[in-house]
Amino acid sequence: MLVYLNGEYLDHDRATVSVDDRGFLFGDGVYEVTRARNGRLFEPGRHLRRLGRGLEALGIAPPAGFEPEGGALAEISDRLLRDSGLVSGDALLYLQITRGAAQRTHHFPPAGTPPTVFLQANRLAVPDDVRARGATAITTPDLRWQRCDLKTVQLLPNVLAKQQAVAAGAFEAVFVRDAILTEGASTNLFAVIGGALRTHPATERILPGITREVILELANEQGLSVVEQPVAVADLSRVTELFLTSTSNDVMPVARLDGRVVGSGRPGPVARQLQAALRERLERDTAQAPAV
Ligand code: PDD
Repeated sequence: MLVYLNGEYLDHDRATVSVDDRGFLFGDGVYEVTRARNGRLFEPGRHLRRLGRGLEALGIAPPAGFEPEGGALAEISDRLLRDSGLVSGDALLYLQITRGAAQRTHHFPPAGTPPTVFLQANRLAVPDDVRARGATAITTPDLRWQRCDLKTVQLLPNVLAKQQAVAAGAFEAVFVRDAILTEGASTNLFAVIGGALRTHPATERILPGITREVILELANEQGLSVVEQPVAVADLSRVTELFLTSTSNDVMPVARLDGRVVGSGRPGPVARQLQAALRERLERDTAQAPAV
């Protein structure tokens, strides 16, 4: 399998990053995970814009071609998807940019230190079996920092939360901060309360998920009543549906939270309707003849 690292296409096993890399030493970098279907990226423009906002917030100059209108993502992903045999079916493209390798100082390295740019493509096994019966989730305190809107590679609280879920036999851990359910360890959270769809507003407390954005658009198109308002722990008794969204999971209904049945305990109609609409949008947007 081939990966892209700092301008080169390398065999996966030969691609190595410096021990001085600030991604390794400080978690000083950002990443994106983009869905590919049949060799084509889904919503690449939105991913590049989110990447651009993250790089700007961290003060890392966008590497050439990775500006929001740049062509590097399309060009590199075409080659990686083709050479990894991923021109049909579902795949994920991982992109990481760090502040680069430099002598260890907490403050930024000298201007001109080249950022580290890494991309790889992997097959995605879409979890349709879990979707059909509904996932289980647990809640856990949201111990993250105050800029959860930035998709940085500092993911330790997310890693610990997800491991807590796995240890409990659950699919996802949902963060709770100030008695409010913010989002999952690697997913956004939606609920249906009193017939209306609710999700946390895109503040600094959550990652503005690309799937979340698309789902909000689809829900509006379908005439669903939507409010960007967080779900409080106190609202849980009135929740009739709960679901998670992400690039790798699409819409994932939650059947049980902390062992308690959510709604009917089965995937609900709103989640099923939005999953169908998302899948249709994904198929439509990636339907053209593969670019590779
Ligand atoms: N996770 N919230 C968090 C904390 C996430 O890490 C993610 C994505 C999302 C959903 O965002 P999107 O719809 O853009 O995938 C929400 C990715 C997939 C990951 O870390 O692998």
